[in-house]
Amino acid sequence: MKKIYVLVMCLIATTVMAADIDERKVLSLNEMQRHHILTEMNALLLGTQQILQALSEEDMMAVARHARMLGMAMAHTGENHLRSVLPEDFMQLGMSVHQSFDQIAADAETLKNPKHTLGQLSTTLQRCVTCHTTYQIRTTDLPAEAEAQPAHHKHH
Ligand code: HEC
Repeated sequence: MKKIYVLVMCLIATTVMAADIDERKVLSLNEMQRHHILTEMNALLLGTQQILQALSEEDMMAVARHARMLGMAMAHTGENHLRSVLPEDFMQLGMSVHQSFDQIAADAETLKNPKHTLGQLSTTLQRCVTCHTTYQIRTTDLPAEAEAQPAHHKHH
């Protein structure tokens, strides 16, 4: 067992070292924008976990409830100020994820078929993977400093 584990760790280490430069497309954002996106990301992860939990209990109404929270309603809460700074492809991929969760919610209510929902979740998670392999965030100091620091913060 231990030997296999060490072997796997070596393989992972080699893979990571082979790709030592992050070549994903850069999203240049300030700290607030980065924080906003990562907060949404963690909500997506949490929501996905809650959907899986509900699925394991075959509670399709709870599946629908959790999925809907990740739907287009979530996209409308404050993504507008990011729209101008994010590439069109990125926005579209993000929107398609929110739309999928709405579809998952609708189907969970009408079809009540856990296996169907699992398939939809898998397809949706592929979009998470696609975006993560395509983009990375780098923070730019200047706009973040200017926006995030009200005058009185100078005397702390
Ligand atoms: C449209 C693009 C896009 C989609 C779709 C997307 N993400 Fe992300 N996600 C990102 C980016 C960009 C980062 C930051 C990665 C980096 O800079 O290394 C990120 C980071 C994260 C993080 C790390 C958060 C942190 O606090 O560091 C989690 C967790 C995450 N995403 C979950 C998900 C899940 C789950 C899905 C699908 C349900 C998803 N994401 C879909 C773009 C996306």
